[in-house]
Amino acid sequence: MIPQSFIQDLLNRVDIVDVVGRYVQLKKGGANFMGLCPFHNEKSPSFTVSPTKQFYHCFGCGAHGTAIGFLIEFSGLGFVEAVKDLAQNVGMTVPEEDRLLPAQRAEVQAKSLALSDVMTRACDFYRQQLRGAPAAIAYLKGRGLTGEIAARFGLGFAPPGWDNLRTVFSDYDSPALVEAGLVIDREEDGGPRKRYDRFRERIMFPIRNTKGQVIAFGGRVLDGGEPKYLNSPETPLFQKGSELYGLFEARQAIRAAGYVLVTEGYMDVVALAQLGFPQAVATLGTACTPTHVQKLLRQTDQVVFSFDGDAAGRRAARRALEACLPHATDNRTLKFLFLPAEHDPDSYVREHGAAAFEQQVRDAMPLSQFLLNEALGDNDLDSSEGRARAQFDAKPLLQAMPPSALRLQLVRSLAQKTGTAPGEIEALFELAQPVAKARKVAPKTKRTPPMGLERQMMRLLVAQPLLSSELDEEAIGAVAQLAPDNAEMLRTLIGCCKALGERANFAALAEQLRQTHSEFDALVAEIAGETESDAAAARLELLGAVRQAKMQVMKAEMDSLAAQGLSGDEAKHRYRALMQQLEQLRREAAVENMPR
Ligand code: UTP
Ligand code: MN
Repeated sequence: MIPQSFIQDLLNRVDIVDVVGRYVQLKKGGANFMGLCPFHNEKSPSFTVSPTKQFYHCFGCGAHGTAIGFLIEFSGLGFVEAVKDLAQNVGMTVPEEDRLLPAQRAEVQAKSLALSDVMTRACDFYRQQLRGAPAAIAYLKGRGLTGEIAARFGLGFAPPGWDNLRTVFSDYDSPALVEAGLVIDREEDGGPRKRYDRFRERIMFPIRNTKGQVIAFGGRVLDGGEPKYLNSPETPLFQKGSELYGLFEARQAIRAAGYVLVTEGYMDVVALAQLGFPQAVATLGTACTPTHVQKLLRQTDQVVFSFDGDAAGRRAARRALEACLPHATDNRTLKFLFLPAEHDPDSYVREHGAAAFEQQVRDAMPLSQFLLNEALGDNDLDSSEGRARAQFDAKPLLQAMPPSALRLQLVRSLAQKTGTAPGEIEALFELAQPVAKARKVAPKTKRTPPMGLERQMMRLLVAQPLLSSELDEEAIGAVAQLAPDNAEMLRTLIGCCKALGERANFAALAEQLRQTHSEFDALVAEIAGETESDAAAARLELLGAVRQAKMQVMKAEMDSLAAQGLSGDEAKHRYRALMQQLEQLRREAAVENMPR
C-alpha cells in the first residue's frame, strides 16, 4: 500500500492542468480550463479542469477525478502505476510497499538475501567450471563468441554429475537450495528423499535482475539433448513474466542506441552483443507480457520486437502486440521486425551481416500497420461480411489502446478500408466512452438516499474536508438521531476527512473515496461540477446545519415531554433547560445570519 500521506503530497505537487493538458487540448475559460472530453464523443467542450480544485469534470458524461484518476481512466494504468508515473514527473519517489510488519519484513529480507547469496555462489561456481571445460569452451567458440562476451554475460558451465553443488555448499541439504531452484528433491516411495543438481552438463546463462543480482539460470545442452534449454523454476526471486534476459547488461547500450531490441532467445542476445547490437534483450521462453513492455518502456520509448519468421514467431508477435496496446501512447514508437522464415536474429546476422540486420531494424513494421494487418488479415474486403469481420477482429485491439492520436489514425484507416465512417467505428467499438463504461456505478444500497441536513453536511465536507474538525461527537450524534439511516455514511466521511489531516483538500479526499468508498461517487461528481465554495462561508453553513440538527433534536424531545403531560419535577426541569438551550442556539443563529 502506498501511504495516503504520499498520495496527498503527490496531488499537492502535480498540477492536473499539466497532466490532462498532455493529452487534451485545454483552453482557459474563466477560473477553469475547458476542452473536448476525451471520454465521450462531443463537438463542443463540456470537459473542465479546475486548477483550484485540482480536479476534472465533464458536464456531458459525468467523468471526473484527480490527476491520478485521469491517468488511470485515460491510459489504462493501474493505480500504483499511475502514482509512479506522476511521481516520476515531479521527481518524487514512491515509498516501498509497506504491508508487512517489521518482523515479517525482516524475515522476507533475510530470506531473499539468503537466496541471492546462494545464486551468486552457484554462478561463481559455474563460471569457474567453464574455464576447465574444453568441450563447453569449444561449443561457445563454435557459436562465434569471444571470452570477453562470455565474461560480460557471466556464462558458465554446469559439469556432468548429479551433485556437483555439494562442493560449493557445505550444507547441500539446506532448504534454500530447493527454494532457489538449484536442486531437485525426489521423493521415493517410502524411501529416503533424494536430492540432485537441476543443471547438469549445460552451458549456464545467468539471468540478472535490473540491480545486477543473479536471480535465475538458463542452461543449454551442448549436443542435441532435450530439453534444449532448461530454466530455473519460478522462485521468490524470479518471475518469468516480468524478467527480461540481458536487460541489466544492455541498459547503457539501450540509452546509447535510443531503442531496445527484443528477441526470443538467450543466444540471440549474446550473439547480437558480440556482433554490434548490445541493446538486445530476450523474453524467457514465454510470451511477452504487459509487464515486460512496461519494464522496457522505463528504459526507452522505442521498442523493436524481433520475431523468428515461422508460425510460432507470428504467434509470439501477436501476443507482443496485445501486450503493447495499453502502452501505445503517441510519444512511443513500437515496431515489429519479422525475419525471413528459418532465421532468428543470431543466424540472420551471421548469414547476412550487421548492416543487413540494421536495415531490417530500420524497416521494421510500425505497430499501426501490424495491427491493421492483423485485423484485415484474410478477410475479403469486397464483401460486406468480410468488412464486418475485419471490424470484429479489430475491435478488441482498438479497445485496448488508450485514446490517442494514433488510435484516431487507426480508426480512420479502418473506416476507409471497411467502407465506414470513423465516427461509426468509434460508436460501434464503444471507443467514445471507454471510461463511462468502465467506471463503476456506485452500488445501489437499500438505505434512503441522503436528504436534508445530513446531505447538506456531507456536501460541505466533501468540498471542504478540513471542516471535519468543526464536528464533535455531540454534533454527529444529533445528526445521527435525525437521520439514523445515513449516520454511518456521515461518520465514514468524517473519518476519511480527519484521516487526511491538516492538509486535507477536495482532490485528496476524492482520491481516497474513489479507492475505498465508491458510495460517495455521486456526491463527489456533484461537487466536482460546482464552482469552488468559499471556505469561510462553507464553515458557517456547516455550523448552521449542525445547529439546526441540534435544535430539531431538542424540539423533538420537548414535544415528547409535552405529549406525556410534563408530569413530575424532572420532566419540567428538563423541558425548561431545553427551552433555554434552544433559545441560546436561536440567538447564535441570528447573530451569524446578520448581514456584514
Ligand atoms: P529457440 O529454440 O529459438 O532457441 O528458443 P535459440 O534461442 O535460438 O537457441 P539456440 O540458438 O538454438 O541456442 C528460444 C528461447 O525459448 C526458450 C529459451 O529461452 C530460448 O532462448 N526455450 C527454448 C526454452 O526455454 N526451452 C527450450 O527447450 C527451448
Ligand atoms: Mn538460435
